[in-house]
Amino acid sequence: MTESKSSGALWHGRFADGPAAALMAYTASLPFDQRLWSVDIDGSMAHVRGLGRAGVLEEAEVSSVLDALARVRGEFENGTFTFAEGDEDIHTAIERRVTEFAGDAGARLHTARSRNDQVATDLRLWTRAALRDVAHHVMRLQSVLIARAEAAGDAYLPGYTHVQRAQPVLLAHHLLAHAWSLSRDVDRLTATIRRLNVSPLGAGALAGTSIPIDPAATAAELGFTDVFANSLDAVSDRDFVAEALFDLALIGVHLSRLGEEWVLWTSEEFGFATLDDAYATGSSMLPQKKNADIAELARGKSGRLIGNLTSVLAMLKGLPLAYNRDLQEDKEPLFDSVDQTVLALIALSGMIETATFHPASMAKAADAEVLVATDLAEHLVRSGMPFRQAHAVVGQLVRRHLAGEGSLRSLAVEEIGDECAKYFEPGSAVRMRKSPGGAGPEALDAQFVRMKATVAELERSLGDS
Ligand code: ARG
Repeated sequence: MTESKSSGALWHGRFADGPAAALMAYTASLPFDQRLWSVDIDGSMAHVRGLGRAGVLEEAEVSSVLDALARVRGEFENGTFTFAEGDEDIHTAIERRVTEFAGDAGARLHTARSRNDQVATDLRLWTRAALRDVAHHVMRLQSVLIARAEAAGDAYLPGYTHVQRAQPVLLAHHLLAHAWSLSRDVDRLTATIRRLNVSPLGAGALAGTSIPIDPAATAAELGFTDVFANSLDAVSDRDFVAEALFDLALIGVHLSRLGEEWVLWTSEEFGFATLDDAYATGSSMLPQKKNADIAELARGKSGRLIGNLTSVLAMLKGLPLAYNRDLQEDKEPLFDSVDQTVLALIALSGMIETATFHPASMAKAADAEVLVATDLAEHLVRSGMPFRQAHAVVGQLVRRHLAGEGSLRSLAVEEIGDECAKYFEPGSAVRMRKSPGGAGPEALDAQFVRMKATVAELERSLGDS
C-alpha cells in the first residue's frame, strides 16, 4: 500500500519527500493546541518587535508582519481561519497564514526562534491566564460558602469523626472549614503563577542564537516578571505544568470531599439539605428520585485530575535535556484539568448557593444525648477530677444508658449532680465550645474576621500575580 504524502511542512527543506499521512496523523497536535492561538499571536508580536529592535527586520517589515498577525487574530476571532493540510500545530498554522499575508517579511518571523521556545512561551502565557481564572472561580465558591455560613445563624449539626456523631458544631463552622481549604488552593495557584512567570522566549531550539536579540525585552513586553537564565532549561522545563496539575488535582480532591458530604447531607438518611431542582437530576426509571449528580461528579472526576498529574510526571521523568517531542503530551492533561476544574467550581457554587438547609433535622441529630458525654467529662474536670478518670466515669454512665438503665441525662443528674441537666438543653453543647478556632459562636466571630482578612489578602496577591 502506498501512503499518501502531504507536503508543506515548515521543516521540509532537508527532506526529499513530504511526510507520510500516518506521521502527520500520529504527531500533529493541532486538534488540541489550537486553543493556544491567541497567546501564540501575542508571543509572535513580541518576537517580531524584538527582531525589529535587533535590526534583523526593517521597520516596514515589522509593521507588515504585525498587520498580518492582527489579521490572523481577526480570522480566529470571527471564525474564518481555515487550517491547511500541512499544519501540524497551531504555531505552523499561524506562521503559514502570516506568510500568506505578508510574503517575504512573514517568512522572516521565525528568525532566531524555534517552536521549542515558542511553545514553552505560549503554554506559560496560557497557563498564567488559566490559573488566574481558576483562582477566581475558587474564590467565588469560597464566597458562596462564606455567605451561607453568615446566613446560617446559630444552626448546628453533629460534627463527625469516622462518620460517627462526635460533638455538635455550628453549621457556619462546618461550611467555613471548606472555605479554608479553598483559601490554601488560591494561595497555591498564586504561588504557581509567580514561579511560572518566567519567559523562555529567546532560548531558540536549545542554545540561544547568534542573532542579537534581547530576551529580557520580549519578556517584559509579554508581562513576564523574569527571563530564563539557561536556554536548555528554558525549553525543557515543564515544572509549571506539573505544579499546575498538582494544584488542580488538590482542588479536585477538596471538591470531592465536599461533594461526598453533600451526597450524604441530601440523602434521606441525613436529611440536612435539599438541592434546588435546577441543580439536581432525576432518574429515568424511578420517578421519586432527586440525585446530587454534581456532587457525585465532583467526587468522580477528581480521579481524572489525579490521573492528569501522574501522566505528566510519568511523561517527564525519563527526558534528557532539552526539548523532546514527548513534551507535546503536556497539553491535553493540562487543558482537561483546567476545563474540568472550572466546570466543577461553577456547578458546585450554584448548587450550594441555591440549596436549602434543614436546621431542625441537623439539630435533632446533634441533640442526641450521647453527644453531651464530652461536656460531662469536662464538667468533672472543672471540679478537679483528672480527665482520664472523668472519661471513665462518663463512659460508665453511657454504658448504663445504652444497657437501658435510663436516659443519660437522668443518670448524670443522679451520679454527678443537678447542674448536669443544663448540658442537655438543645444547643447548649455547641455554645460551650469557646476555645479559639473551635466550633462555638464566640470563636466563630473571630474566625469570620480572620477569614475576611485572608480573602482580602488572597484577592490582593492574586491581583498582583
Ligand atoms: N507541537 C509541538 C509541541 O507541542 C511544538 C514543538 C515542536 N518542536 C519540534 N522540535 N518538533 O511541543
